[in-house]
Amino acid sequence: MNRMQADHFGQHYKSSEESKMFRALRRLLVKKFGGVKRFLFFVTCVAIILYCLHSIFAGGSRQIWDVQGNTLNMSVDNGCGVECPPDHFSFYVRTGEKNTVKPTICFQGKIVLSPDVNAKSSGRGLNIALIDGKQFQVKEVKQFDTYVHGTQAPKRTDKIIITAFDTKKGDNDLIRYLKKGIPDDWIVIIATFDEAASGLRTDARKWLKLYGSSLIDGMAFRDSFVMVGQRGLLEGHAIEYINKRDKSEDYAAVLEKAGCFAMPLGPLGSLQVALPEMLQGKAIALGEALPHCGRSSQCPKGTVSVGTFTGFENAKPPYICVNGRIIMSENLNKGGRGFNVVTLSSQSLQPVTLMHADTYTSDSTDLELYLEALVNGDIVIAVVADDGAKKLSNSARDLLNTFGSGFIQNLRFRDVWYFVGQKGMEGFTTMEEISYAGYDGGWPKQLKGAFCVPRKLSGRKIIPDPEFFRFDERREFCKKFDGYPEFCDPAYVDDKLKTVGVADKVLQGHAIFDTPLIIVPGLNHNALVRTLETTLMQPGIKQNNVIIMWDEKFPEHAELAKLFGFKNASLPSSTKYMEQMGHALKESVNIFPSADHFIVVEEELLLAPDFLSFLAQCFSTLNSDPTLLAVSSWNFNGFEKTSGNRGIVYRVEEFPGMGFLVKKKAMAALTDSFPQCCTNRAWHGWKFEGEGHFEILMPDVSRVFRQPFHGIGQEEVFMTDLFLRPRTTSLEQPSPLQDLSSLMEREYEMYLNNLIAGCTVFPTANLGQCISGVEPPPDLSTEKHCLAIYFEQASSLDFVRLGEISRCFGLLSARNLRPKNLHNGMLRFWYQERHIFLVGSFTPYYKNKPAESDAVRLP
Ligand SMILES: *[C@@H]1O[C@H](CO)[C@@H](O)[C@H](O)[C@H]1NC(C)=O
Ligand SMILES: *[C@@H]1O[C@H](CO)[C@@H](O)[C@H](O)[C@H]1NC(C)=O
Repeated sequence: MNRMQADHFGQHYKSSEESKMFRALRRLLVKKFGGVKRFLFFVTCVAIILYCLHSIFAGGSRQIWDVQGNTLNMSVDNGCGVECPPDHFSFYVRTGEKNTVKPTICFQGKIVLSPDVNAKSSGRGLNIALIDGKQFQVKEVKQFDTYVHGTQAPKRTDKIIITAFDTKKGDNDLIRYLKKGIPDDWIVIIATFDEAASGLRTDARKWLKLYGSSLIDGMAFRDSFVMVGQRGLLEGHAIEYINKRDKSEDYAAVLEKAGCFAMPLGPLGSLQVALPEMLQGKAIALGEALPHCGRSSQCPKGTVSVGTFTGFENAKPPYICVNGRIIMSENLNKGGRGFNVVTLSSQSLQPVTLMHADTYTSDSTDLELYLEALVNGDIVIAVVADDGAKKLSNSARDLLNTFGSGFIQNLRFRDVWYFVGQKGMEGFTTMEEISYAGYDGGWPKQLKGAFCVPRKLSGRKIIPDPEFFRFDERREFCKKFDGYPEFCDPAYVDDKLKTVGVADKVLQGHAIFDTPLIIVPGLNHNALVRTLETTLMQPGIKQNNVIIMWDEKFPEHAELAKLFGFKNASLPSSTKYMEQMGHALKESVNIFPSADHFIVVEEELLLAPDFLSFLAQCFSTLNSDPTLLAVSSWNFNGFEKTSGNRGIVYRVEEFPGMGFLVKKKAMAALTDSFPQCCTNRAWHGWKFEGEGHFEILMPDVSRVFRQPFHGIGQEEVFMTDLFLRPRTTSLEQPSPLQDLSSLMEREYEMYLNNLIAGCTVFPTANLGQCISGVEPPPDLSTEKHCLAIYFEQASSLDFVRLGEISRCFGLLSARNLRPKNLHNGMLRFWYQERHIFLVGSFTPYYKNKPAESDAVRLP
């Protein structure tokens, strides 16, 4: 009688229906055993004894002891220091010691592996001696480096790359060995050395459990582990020990065990459940009909129609169709999430086997084994649905690569993919597509394919660009950093960041393209991205001349630079933007010691499409005139109403900063005198110390746009005026500037005098009401010519009248501040499609006033 029967008995005992019979039985028990309790005790003892006896006869008999370090001298002790009863096998096993002394395995008195014997075959990870289940002889010794990871993400550039992954590394080989390399019932003796846990994934551990282990799940970094197991041995029946590493130690203590065991090691089960599931022959069900598998017409003879669909989100299931019938889908032939694979015979073009591997939850060894077992010529149709990438190993990808896949290397989380390839084919299949999930987890676009598949697939030599491009580095950036809603919009995150060539032949090879372009970012991330985007869009830009000078508080700006292909340099942390600008200018001179010019782009700017072209056209004038220091790309007076001629460039005495091209000399003057020169923003006025009289070139239409300035206080009328009124910015492709030669110092005077002399004199009486603010600015659209407005001054520094006239036209003129854009005290601008000159009586141009006409009087 065993325990089960006793339980059975107990149940009946409680049952009332047969209580009469049991009362009789009880009487008998009391008489023979002295009561029910005593009887049950007796039964339990018998059960335990029977169980023990059963265990002995069913295998599992063993005797194990610890070995104390040095007591065993392996070189003299023939039996490995172990003697066992007949029908038992002796073993001795010792893990490695740290990463210095290699492990020892001894079986039946014979050293299989030790620091002296066969040491070359042992190494980091798991060391396994394999013993056959019939003659009980050691057949081989294997080492698996399970420290390294089997799946390391391949490094990518924007082109797909194919790396020959070393599949010997990691646990792939171990899994394959445990799965396929060992016959049923054979024995393994395992000892770790150095580190064996890091690369040992769930699938590998699962397979060790199919050899009887139960402790393997607990093995962690640098733990020591030994095991004697057997293929098919039920979990928990192996001889196994683990030494956990003490957190304070580098390695766990050495494990050393010896003992005797009988065969089998314990109860054995079937491994069939663990082998990859495959449908073939009659097991393959036929699903719905899909005429020509989605093609519009029948496939030619010698080919078969094949249809693939990756499913829609997780709502519409994926399918594979062959010869007009769906043969794999969610509820058909076990299709579903992960890999759905159908193999066609190249002879019959009919499905021979089907397999499904949910590589979202399980490692991909099943898939690998399946693919490895196919024969050359087999045609493989595969569809990945929902997610198939999470646990897809590199060796699986490499395998599919040899089947003709060019895109599988790119498969990431939730990406979908379909493929028709052939084992042993050359080149890459033409029947493959991949589509990418959003970096934020958004679903990819669904893919549908329909083909006529021939017996022999011909591949192409080069992997084509996939229809969808995935910008991995940009996605990484977006996952890492917040605050870039535009740049990281999932709808655009894969947009390439590309340069364009110079369209204008005249500018080809121009020095402007070799001039360092310094970007000094502020705090607004989106604004910086816009600056970078519009910089990159400049025709002819060379990315390695662009440098982002980032404050050390924002290393992400360096990463942005990298995404755009620009250089970067970190600056010491600053509290004010002008401090950062000071650092940046100084550093630029260091980084580009041989540069003669610099282009500086301040924060919050968008560069017009012809920004560089504009600077390029001004370049030689700037160079040949020593009185010119820089070219500004922004006009103080570039408002909607007071500018609008893209061809005009002025000489002015101010320097507004923003985006400019500056000579090295001026740059040096600035950096030397920072911060005295430039505590304030440039639009408040920078002083070029020691430069005496200087001027800059300034366009009528600005070539940069500064984003609206927020957070301006009430008192800042000037700032409001500058940045909150509508402005004109060039939005067109480059076009030629006018009269560039007249911009040289001397030529400019002649040019101006000529122009002014040829202008109509504007009747001053018509300005009175406007100046006093009663009337709007005059409508001059019906005039035929340019206009000169003459006014009286008390001295050459009297700009009161000029200020009033400026305000009347809507030019920049905060009270108490000198009007901007003066040249020799004269102000010139573009208004209603004509030049207007405001000429004061103390300027050299007043001489052009016809004697008979009047001037605006002093107030
Ligand atoms: C083991 O025995 C050999 C031969 O007698 C001897 O030379 C060696 O020193 C011994 N090793 C140890 C560790 O005792
Ligand atoms: C920034 O520039 C330094 C120096 O040129 C370079 O070594 C580094 O890789 C750059 N950083 C990034 C993120 O590209």
